[in-house]
Amino acid sequence: MNEEKSEAPGRRRFLWLSGLGAVGATAVGGAAVLADYVNPKVLFEPPTAFSLGKPDMFPVNSVTADYERKVYVVRTEVGFFALSAVCTHLGCITRWLEDEETIACPCHGSKFTRDGAVVQGPAPRALRHIAIRLEEGELIVDTAVEVERDAILRT
Ligand code: FES
Repeated sequence: MNEEKSEAPGRRRFLWLSGLGAVGATAVGGAAVLADYVNPKVLFEPPTAFSLGKPDMFPVNSVTADYERKVYVVRTEVGFFALSAVCTHLGCITRWLEDEETIACPCHGSKFTRDGAVVQGPAPRALRHIAIRLEEGELIVDTAVEVERDAILRT
């Protein structure tokens, strides 16, 4: 009889600590789920629209490459248009070859004219023409907006 009384507080204490541990584990799990919920699951990518500078930085009848941002700005006698430098075959970044007046892909040999038309495959389509506009005296290109092939920013 005396042994039962002496075991009871130990068992009670064990159950109390087990319960406390379960509550603590639940609280920690809940906090982890809350922290996961509060932190956004987004990729922070560079903006698709950016300035390339003032129009007079681009000579008439020129092709200017910005390989970091994967665009070409072409200035004609009439105005400007912009091309994506991303090859339409498998996405390599093309290169402007001034001597050949050609945009060429180093990966599989596709070639394009300065207005993006395919001269030589395997690229299945012309380079994308992308939006270009004048804003506060600067040329703004938006790689997320594709425009018609004949779209031109007249200057
Ligand atoms: S990725 Fe340009 S030709 Fe293949």
